[in-house]
Amino acid sequence: MSRRIVLLGPPGAGKGTQAARVAADFAIPHISTGDLFRVEIAAGSELGKKAKGFIDTGDLVPDEIVLDMLAARISEPDVVSGFLLDGFPRTSAQAEALERRFEGGAIDLAVLLEVEEEELVTRLSGRWVCSNPKCSGVFHVLYSPPLVEGICDSCGAALVQRNDDKPEAIRRRLQEYASKTSAVIDFYETRGELVRVDSSGSVEDVASRIESAIDNAIPA
Ligand code: AP5
Repeated sequence: MSRRIVLLGPPGAGKGTQAARVAADFAIPHISTGDLFRVEIAAGSELGKKAKGFIDTGDLVPDEIVLDMLAARISEPDVVSGFLLDGFPRTSAQAEALERRFEGGAIDLAVLLEVEEEELVTRLSGRWVCSNPKCSGVFHVLYSPPLVEGICDSCGAALVQRNDDKPEAIRRRLQEYASKTSAVIDFYETRGELVRVDSSGSVEDVASRIESAIDNAIPA
């Protein structure tokens, strides 16, 4: 069965953490625009060079750049089984472009992860990620520390902090979310396609809330 799901939420809400699990459980590709940009930046591509300045300061990348990149990714064959979009759409223009791409309704469900702002800042400022661009290891100094400090459990590469997890960039990302992405929430709520999920508590508890919400909204 094909499922097309959008995972929304502020920076640090746990989208990447949850998307990897949920996509594997529902056997659909996990498509993160943030991860796609980070791969391009690590490769030193033209697209990566265009996006890097915006990402490092915490600004959204302009719509036309994001839309070209996303259009290419959702044209790949694995998308026939559906998809879990993480970090897209983030503006009304992106949500509308996604609707135009699919006749008869682009998505089955938008899941909004909700967490208190203080907890978002704690999650982002304590996050360490694997420096190996082929590895998706993500850790947290308090909540999910690596076995050996500074080293990725999965591949043994060094852990680093993302440039946009510095305090000033975190503030800017939260502002961008409040000013631009709230319109996307309204967009899906008006269409009756939005479900809100409490993203506080353990990773396992949040995952089971998300999966119940998906099962209720899109029965197999
Ligand atoms: P992106 O990579 O999408 O960043 P984001 O939305 O700011 O989200 P994060 O990755 O920071 O957080 P998350 O919600 O995935 O949380 P995570 O699971 O890692 O985008 C980066 C940038 O790219 C944007 O700022 C923008 O510039 C650009 N961009 C991307 N898409 C774009 C678009 N569509 N349009 C324009 N620009 C775009 O968790 C965070 C931490 O908390 C981790 O350490 C994790 O271990 C921990 N954690 C997670 N869940 C829990 C839990 N339940 N309990 C305890 N700890 C937890």
